[in-house]
Amino acid sequence: MKDEPQEIYLDNNATTRPIPEVVDAVLGILTTGYGNPSSAHQRGSYARRTLEMARAQVASLVGASEDQVFFTSGGTESNNLALNRVSEKEARHLVTTETEHSSVLKKARFFEQRGIKVTYMPVDYMGRVNVGTLKNALEESADLVSVHWINNETGTEQPVWELGEVCRERGVAFHIDAAQAAGKLEINFNDMPVDMLTFSGHKIHGPQGVGALCVKQSDRVFPVLFGGDQERFIRPGTENLPGVAGFGVAAEIREKDLLEIKSRIKALRDRFEERLIDVFPGLCINGDKENRVCNTSNILFSGVDGMALMAQLDREGVICSQTSACNSRSPEPSHVLLAMGLSQEEAFSSVRFSFSVLNTLEETEIVADKVTRSYRKLLEFEGREVF
Ligand SMILES: Cc1ncc(COP(=O)(O)O)c(C=O)c1O
Repeated sequence: MKDEPQEIYLDNNATTRPIPEVVDAVLGILTTGYGNPSSAHQRGSYARRTLEMARAQVASLVGASEDQVFFTSGGTESNNLALNRVSEKEARHLVTTETEHSSVLKKARFFEQRGIKVTYMPVDYMGRVNVGTLKNALEESADLVSVHWINNETGTEQPVWELGEVCRERGVAFHIDAAQAAGKLEINFNDMPVDMLTFSGHKIHGPQGVGALCVKQSDRVFPVLFGGDQERFIRPGTENLPGVAGFGVAAEIREKDLLEIKSRIKALRDRFEERLIDVFPGLCINGDKENRVCNTSNILFSGVDGMALMAQLDREGVICSQTSACNSRSPEPSHVLLAMGLSQEEAFSSVRFSFSVLNTLEETEIVADKVTRSYRKLLEFEGREVF
């Protein structure tokens, strides 16, 4: 009998394993390619070339031009940078959704404490924002609309094109948080009715601690940090060259095979759900099945505590999660699932599995078996009906 893999990693919306090409790129900069891109000597100009090559690779993944890409420390910082636009404006009104990542929601709450108006648009039971809701929110003048493209917990895809068109008609800037979309969807920033776009290296098998904000009009971006003239004053501080180089390689590799990667991951995710639904026909998948990114499966395991299921799977070498990694140590139920109308109990019973291109069909079958066994065991333990 073949040995089972020791660990099956299905928490790729939290972070992905860096691919060997990325590790080589990062190590190459740390060992021989180090240098400060602002330095005037040869090592500095080599570092500058590395930085600009990565900028071109990253820009290409999302259909932006190089001068539209500003490197940051990740999705959190890019979101903060984009939202900063509001505090500098006169109307001082931010429109966002109830299901954003905490880097948007917490900044929005910070704004509110300073007297800035924030409208949180509700979502429907599948996690989608309605275009009419945005139109209503924009009856009052606003400076910025910020919406995530793909929800990190459910994979639900927002109608960003339609939302962007409404923003265009009303002359309001539109930012999308594409941290979970880049590398999973084809993106053409310059064709989209979008002014700013966030994405992050570690969601596409690149390094952690590096991301980017794409911007169409850089004079409308207000820095969070102050310092040197790196990233044209928008993001001062010596660049994270190893991270940026790794991000560039990850972006290039991802772009090359995007369509094939997408369908491979989707096949695994769909097979996983099919296997579970075969055994548990009433199983509920949270999110929008029609408009859902290829890799995410958020499942409501009625009658059991999702944390207990996750812990059991963890002991068996299956890594998944209950909510976004940033909130997973809090005892609160997922704000995303609550906003979609799930009860607290249902939110606590839900578990997220997020696949990547590094997963295999064999792993998928093993996980489906283990989830089936563990769910049954927990149902039995709870004295519930076992399927
Ligand atoms: C939708 C979304 N936005 C922003 C972020 C934050 O990105 P980072 O971890 O690079 O700061 C994440 C990370 O999980 C995310 O899923």
